[in-house]
Amino acid sequence: MAQLWGGRFTKETDQLVYQFNASISFDKRFYRQDMEGSIAHVKMLGKQGILTETEAKEIVSAIKIILQEVEEGKLEISHEYEDIHSFVEATLIDRLGDTGKKLHTGRSRNDQVALDMRLFTRQEVLETDKLLEELLNVILIIMENNLDTYMPGFTHLQKAQPVTLAHHFGAYFEMFKRDRQRMEDIYHRMNYCPLGSGALAGTTYNLDRYNTASQMGFAGPTLNSMDGVSDRDYLIEFLSALSTIMMHLSRISEEIIIWNSNEYQFVEIDDAYSTGSSIMPQKKNPDIAELVRGKTGRVYGALISLLTAMKGIPLAYNKDMQEDKELPFDAMDTVKSCLALFTGMLSTMKFKKEQMESSAKNGFTNATDAADYLVNHGVPFRDAHGIVGQIVLACIEKKIAIDDMSLEELQQISPVFKEDIFKTISMETCVEKRLTIGAPGQEAMKNAIQLEKKYLSSDWKSSLPDWETELLK
Ligand code: ARG
Repeated sequence: MAQLWGGRFTKETDQLVYQFNASISFDKRFYRQDMEGSIAHVKMLGKQGILTETEAKEIVSAIKIILQEVEEGKLEISHEYEDIHSFVEATLIDRLGDTGKKLHTGRSRNDQVALDMRLFTRQEVLETDKLLEELLNVILIIMENNLDTYMPGFTHLQKAQPVTLAHHFGAYFEMFKRDRQRMEDIYHRMNYCPLGSGALAGTTYNLDRYNTASQMGFAGPTLNSMDGVSDRDYLIEFLSALSTIMMHLSRISEEIIIWNSNEYQFVEIDDAYSTGSSIMPQKKNPDIAELVRGKTGRVYGALISLLTAMKGIPLAYNKDMQEDKELPFDAMDTVKSCLALFTGMLSTMKFKKEQMESSAKNGFTNATDAADYLVNHGVPFRDAHGIVGQIVLACIEKKIAIDDMSLEELQQISPVFKEDIFKTISMETCVEKRLTIGAPGQEAMKNAIQLEKKYLSSDWKSSLPDWETELLK
C-alpha cells in the first residue's frame, strides 16, 4: 500500500481498513481527467509564478508522458495506491524527484476529485446526448415512413381511437427530445470549475481560478469553496435525467414486447436483435427490450443511493462522497448501452402494417366518430353515446366491425344514419380529419415532423470549445 499522508501517524493502517478506504479500483476510470486537471493546475501555477516556468513545463510534459503511457497500456495503474490522485503524484515524483513533489501546491484531493468527477460526468452528458440524437434520427425516419400506417391508439391497453404509427412514435420523439434538452440544461448548469476550492476554504496562494476554468472549457470557477468541494447536485441531476431516459426506454420496450407477442404481431424484431429458447424451437424472444426494461431499476438505484448518501452530510467534504462513483458509473454505462442497443433494434425492426390496420378496424376504434356523426346530425351527445353503445353490443354478438353493419341494420337502431356514415367512420377519415396541432392527421403530422426536423438540424454541442486539444497541445 502506498499513500500520500502518514506524517502524523505512528502505526500502519490496518490492511482491511486500507482496502475499505481505497478507491483506486474504480476512480482509475478518470485517470485522464485527473491528469488533465493537473496539467491545467500546473500551467496556471507557472503563469502565476507559484512554480517557476521551468518547473511547470517539466511537470506538464511528464504528466503528458504518463497519460500517454497509460493510454497505450505501457504503464499500468497499480492498485497498491489509495486512489488515482496518489498514483499520478507518486509516479510523477518517481520520475521528477523534488519537482514532482510540487504538483499538489495549492490543491487538495477534495477539489481535485470534485473536478475529476465533474469533468468525467460532463463528458458523459455529451455522449448520452449524442446517443439520444441518434435515437431521435431513427424515430424520425419511422415517423416519415408511416404517416398512413393506421393502428389502434390505446387507453388502459384497450383499443381507443385509431392513430398512425407515425403519431405513436411522435410521442416518443417528444419524450427523448426533452431528455436531450435536459442534457443541455445540466451541461450548462454544471459547467463551473471547483478546482481552487482547496480542502474547503480556498487557499492562500494567488491562484487564477478563471485561468484553470477556461483551460478546461468551463464557463467560470465555482463561487463558494465549501460548495465547490461538496456539491454533487450536478450528478444527482444527471442521474435523475438518466432515470427518466430509462423510464422512457422502458415504456417503449414494454410496447415492443407487447407488439411482438403472438397475440398482437404488430412488429417483427430482426434476427440480429432477438434470441431463441434452448428448449422451445419456435421461440424468438424480445430479449433486448426486456433487458432494457429490466436494467431501469439499477439506474434508479444509483439515483436513490446518491440522494441518500448526500442527505445527511454536513459541510464540507466527507468520505461518504466517495460513494458518488461506482453506482453512477454503472448507471452511465447502462444508459449508454441501452440507448445504443435500443436504437439498433429499432432501426432494423419491421412493422406489420396490415396487422396493425386490421387490429384498429376490429376494435371499434371508430365508435367515437360514429357518435360524433349523430351529434353533427342534431342528436345530443349523451344519446349518441347510448346509440353507438347499442351498435357496438350488436356487433360484438355478430363478431363484426361497425363498418360491416348494413345501413338498414344501423337505421333500425337510429334512423339518423345515412349512406355517408360509412365514409365518416372509415379508418382513413377517422384519422385524417384529426388535424388539430399534435393530432395524427397527415397534415398535422407533416407540420410536426417539419418542426422536429428543424430541431434536429441544430446541435447545441457544436458550439462547445475544443479545450482538450488546446490543453494537451
Ligand atoms: N477518493 C476520494 C473520493 O473519491 C478522494 C478525495 C479524498 N479526500 C480526502 N480528504 N480523503 O472522494
